[in-house]
Amino acid sequence: MLRTEVLSTGFYVPERVITNHDLTQWMDTSDEWIRQRSGIVERRWVEDGVGSSDLAKAATEQALEMAGLQATDLDCIILATLSPDHFFPGTGVFLQRKLGIKNIPCLDVRNQCSGFIYGLAVADAWIRIGLFKRILLVGTEVHSSGLEKTTAGRDTAVLFGDGAGAVILGPTEDAERGVLSIHIHADGRHAEKLWMDAPGSSYTPWLVPEYIASGLTRPQMEGREVFKHAVVKMPEAVREALEATGLSLDDVDVVIPHQANLRITQAVQKVLGLPDEKMVSNIDKYGNTTAASIPIALHEAVASGRIKRGSLVCLTAFGSGFTWGSALIRW
Ligand code: UT7
Repeated sequence: MLRTEVLSTGFYVPERVITNHDLTQWMDTSDEWIRQRSGIVERRWVEDGVGSSDLAKAATEQALEMAGLQATDLDCIILATLSPDHFFPGTGVFLQRKLGIKNIPCLDVRNQCSGFIYGLAVADAWIRIGLFKRILLVGTEVHSSGLEKTTAGRDTAVLFGDGAGAVILGPTEDAERGVLSIHIHADGRHAEKLWMDAPGSSYTPWLVPEYIASGLTRPQMEGREVFKHAVVKMPEAVREALEATGLSLDDVDVVIPHQANLRITQAVQKVLGLPDEKMVSNIDKYGNTTAASIPIALHEAVASGRIKRGSLVCLTAFGSGFTWGSALIRW
């Protein structure tokens, strides 16, 4: 039986560091408020004109190098983002072009904070049925150019950052290793609790200046509602993964939750009763990078030696949609 293994990881964040103090020049906020409510100290923002596919390219190049592969060795691209370069076509094809390759399929995944886990579910299925042997899965976001950087948008503007994380996935016949389980869920009843209303085909026309003026084109979030559901659904998804595989929390070496808010991950940790050394957190440095947050944290945990051959890694995410899920990977 084939399983999916992670052959390599890579990440990229823009060089431009934006501290909490920096944000105070555009909006009424404070370092204290941001740290206390979210754990974020700084985030990265791109320079003007840099899109999600540019960050994805840099993360991919690192993953390719780590795997000792060329872009031409890839046979499929799955790209998760909520901040596409363009409304259409998908960002995957722009990444493909920037990598200097052609013909291989490119799939865009639009599942926000859970995008990486949804993408992993697709990649895992395609690899296990033998369709592809080298899948690039990348989560990438450029939030900064879409944020409302005024007091009106401060509830979201202080939280989100830019970045990309990538993994290269391939088949293994080693029954002990690789992706052991994936569980994904959604509940569209909550779609408007974290969303961007326009532009969209539910409007005629899709975009006019009035939508911008009335705030429809900026991210809107009912923060407390998102928080409330996140701290229930992520532990549920972790338990679901453990039940499905007959493993326990004691077996898990590293938990990588989507980095939405330090208080959310601390609550998840508490509900599950996990010790600090099992939880990965880097939100202080990057803020919430949505689809990129799990693969960035994964890369850092691998690079620092926290994840090594044999480690049992649990990923979990929750976000806009609402969508959520978990994955268990034996490294
Ligand atoms: O990736 C998944 C997506 N997002 C999340 O998971 C986020 C989930 N939610 C959260 O993390 C939290 O709800 C927030 C961090 C977004 C907000 O924390 P909160 O404790 O729920 O604050 P709040 O929204 O209830 O706002 C409290 C106060 C309000 O003022 P009043 O009405 O009490 O006078 C806000 O206007 O804080 C104010 N406020 C701010 N103050 C300074 C909101 N944003 C800011 C800000 N700086 N940036």
